[in-house]
Amino acid sequence: MSGIVGFLGNRSAVPILLDCLDTLDYRGYDSAGIAISNQQHVEIRKTVGRVKDLRAHLLREPVMHGTIGIGHTRWATHGKPSEANSHPLTGCDRRFVVVHNGIIENYPQVRRSLMAQGHTFKTETDTEVIPHLLEEYDTGDLEETVRKVLPMLKGSFALAIMSEAQPDTIIAVSQDNPLVLGVGRKEAFLASDIPALLPYTREIYPIKNGEIAILTPGKATVKRLDGTEVTPHYSLADETVYDVLLHDYKHYMMKEIFDQPKALEDMLTGRLTPEGVDLPELAQIWTVEKLKNLRKVDIVASGTSNHAGVIGKKALEQLLDLPVEVSYSSEFIHEHGTLDERNLVILLSQSGETADTLSALREAKKHGCSTLAITNTAGSTLSRKADCTLLTKAGPEFAVASTKAYTSQITALILLAIWMAQRMGSARKEEVSELLQALERLPGDVDSTLIMTHDAIDQFAQLTYDQEHLFLIGRGLDYVLALEGALKLQEVAYIHADAYAAGEMKHGTMALITPGVPVIALATQARVFDKTVSNIKEVKARDAFVVGITTVGDDVLADEVDEVMYIPSTHSLLLPILAAIPLQLLAYYAGTVRGHDVDRPRNLAKSLTVE
Ligand code: F6R
Repeated sequence: MSGIVGFLGNRSAVPILLDCLDTLDYRGYDSAGIAISNQQHVEIRKTVGRVKDLRAHLLREPVMHGTIGIGHTRWATHGKPSEANSHPLTGCDRRFVVVHNGIIENYPQVRRSLMAQGHTFKTETDTEVIPHLLEEYDTGDLEETVRKVLPMLKGSFALAIMSEAQPDTIIAVSQDNPLVLGVGRKEAFLASDIPALLPYTREIYPIKNGEIAILTPGKATVKRLDGTEVTPHYSLADETVYDVLLHDYKHYMMKEIFDQPKALEDMLTGRLTPEGVDLPELAQIWTVEKLKNLRKVDIVASGTSNHAGVIGKKALEQLLDLPVEVSYSSEFIHEHGTLDERNLVILLSQSGETADTLSALREAKKHGCSTLAITNTAGSTLSRKADCTLLTKAGPEFAVASTKAYTSQITALILLAIWMAQRMGSARKEEVSELLQALERLPGDVDSTLIMTHDAIDQFAQLTYDQEHLFLIGRGLDYVLALEGALKLQEVAYIHADAYAAGEMKHGTMALITPGVPVIALATQARVFDKTVSNIKEVKARDAFVVGITTVGDDVLADEVDEVMYIPSTHSLLLPILAAIPLQLLAYYAGTVRGHDVDRPRNLAKSLTVE
């Protein structure tokens, strides 16, 4: 799981490759490297760490001037982050130079047979089998050799390959793993995603399975594996200008938390109309007849997106008479209920590139299901491959931890639920109208929540400095939110945070409650408020330090907890959006007070393009 770039043109390749790698470092930041060709030789530089570390390395050890090159930023899957395991990789000699994203599933067998043929391996990576295979089957022609070797590889992979013998050529491959080709005036680019190329070109062609792209000076050709030429249909990428600057914020995570009122405004604009919800992107495909024929809705997503999906499930179930199931993408691939053309499978993904979610999409399509992508990334693989797409329009997220994409995903699912209810003639008109009014107030309510909770959360986070454990409890939608709060704290602050359905504590976990242990008690849902308060009393009786989160107007909780924080009162389905704000802020401040890089937490990457 990594980011790949490539450039071939008349300009110096290094600054272009580094710039594109900077945009891709959300895909992994364990190591970075480039290979540069001056059309006679290929030179490699690589280092453990981020693209900035590669820049520093290049100052110490400059690479020769060249106008052709490939680059890589790595998230370690096979083999620890080390210079040896960093890409670009070579084989026994330096004939072939390879950068790779994905997993070569049959690498143990291939490696064993290559070793039997006398190849010596220098790394622990799956990737290294590729340059060795190219050496073993070298025909003297790079393109032909690549075509010969590709059928020997199993798995999902994107590759960019150069060779010492043909240093004016780059070969690119995309097999169930994204790689886009971009073209400019006598120059060509490669990148794992479109935004990395937008400063250079908008003419984009996503390389398809079974194709290889051959970049030579002044020419970019696409062929099938059998050598027949394909005419690539370049499309013009959306160049929406987003505010990507940090401004006065120290970290992207904080900026993105504060972006939320605007992100939600953008999400709702044009979709919330005086008549209700308008989603023209779905209307063409989703006829009333097709909607009424649905038997079940599946929501499939990973991590934070999965948590947004669980809240979306409650909205869909409340407004439609349809069963809704939420699955982790990585589980759905192997286990799911009956699937056929009467299932709607919603794939939810900020990046639109998560490998597990893309596999789930393939599985759903295999069974003939209707598929809908809800993603933040226009032009992403998910969006290109699903039947239709609802964009969350939160603007790009640079921090690894998802914040504004999460609240936008919940909002998207609520809009979808209302839109489907309207078209299917749902009887719950009053509920829909209340929800519509609350949605209009949503960006303002999020803004108020930021103001109301920011300082108090900052102070509380300082107190958690030396805590190793933290519990979050809640019932119903508050429990789902607790799961998300715990994930954020684990990810950014490296605290062992765990979420529990408040009523379940007494069935085991209460044994872990010791005096002073911090507990965040979410009590925003009126329907289960009294029962949650009873559970709070139980943890208070064991001397936990309890911070309660409730809505304005509640005068009960303050007497039960050590500290209380208030969020605006709104429709119950929108409360998980507002209550997410203090939890995101808590993760941020608990992470920074411990001195962690909250934008780039250890061992993680923004987009997981391996299963
Ligand atoms: C956590 C987080 C991850 C992602 C997950 C899925 O803050 O960001 O749990 O939600 O990796 O990513 P997407 O939504 O891009 O499919």
